[in-house]
Amino acid sequence: MSRKPIIAGNWKMNLCQSEAKSLFDGISSFVSNYKATELPCVVIAPVFTSLCCVHSIPCDCGCGGNKLSVAGQNCHWEASGAYTGEISVEMLKDAGCSFVIIGHSERRQYFSESDEMINKKAKAILAGGLTPIICCGESLEQRESGATDEWIASQIRAALSGISSEDVSKSVIAYEPIWAIGTGKSCDADEANRVCKMIRSVVSEVAGSSAADSIRILYGGSVKPSTIEEQMSKSDIDGALIGGASLKADSFNEIIEKTMKSCTCCA
Ligand code: 13P
Repeated sequence: MSRKPIIAGNWKMNLCQSEAKSLFDGISSFVSNYKATELPCVVIAPVFTSLCCVHSIPCDCGCGGNKLSVAGQNCHWEASGAYTGEISVEMLKDAGCSFVIIGHSERRQYFSESDEMINKKAKAILAGGLTPIICCGESLEQRESGATDEWIASQIRAALSGISSEDVSKSVIAYEPIWAIGTGKSCDADEANRVCKMIRSVVSEVAGSSAADSIRILYGGSVKPSTIEEQMSKSDIDGALIGGASLKADSFNEIIEKTMKSCTCCA
């Protein structure tokens, strides 16, 4: 089954509006040089206050999708109300987002996000017609003690609990080993692929083989232009979630360009 790759840039808490605008200009002018069928699905996730400085670029092939899509970095599961500092799915949609990153290890670690909260967010995002990018990943201690697979399987089972197979198939999972984030030490591509394959088998167990075949599983953690080709050559890695290297148009565009070789379809 062919899955259209996703190259997603998580800008984290970086770039004020003028900087976000110039990075967006550098990416959008690059993407505009290509047909949608040549490109991976490109996603950028700026801070909330810079969502007004970027916009999606629709596909030119009439499929209804985007050449470039915008993501929120987080959301609340409630529609509105007394939740100071939070943002709803509807608000992100209103600001032009079609994806939302949830369960990033930085949110789990610094903001005590639980599996249950991540599951509620995933359901709210899907109910709102957006696509969740559900992050999972193990710490160095877990890896060294051999607990990686069990830990990630439990994160995935919890995140997808009670979600229909159809909605699971539309979702995106990002495997981001915590020890590889921002360290310059990318996970070995064969090992990242092994974990992504294991995640796919957990998806198959909870949502069936058709959802497991359709769901896109990304790798994240020190992805660079020099690592992307090997990562994309692996059977179960369907793209990348990129932090540091997404903050410069040159490196992000190079990653897109190197991924284009594996793009064969549009939708
Ligand atoms: P780096 O690419 O900077 O390692 O960050 C990865 C990440 O956390 C993306 O969500």
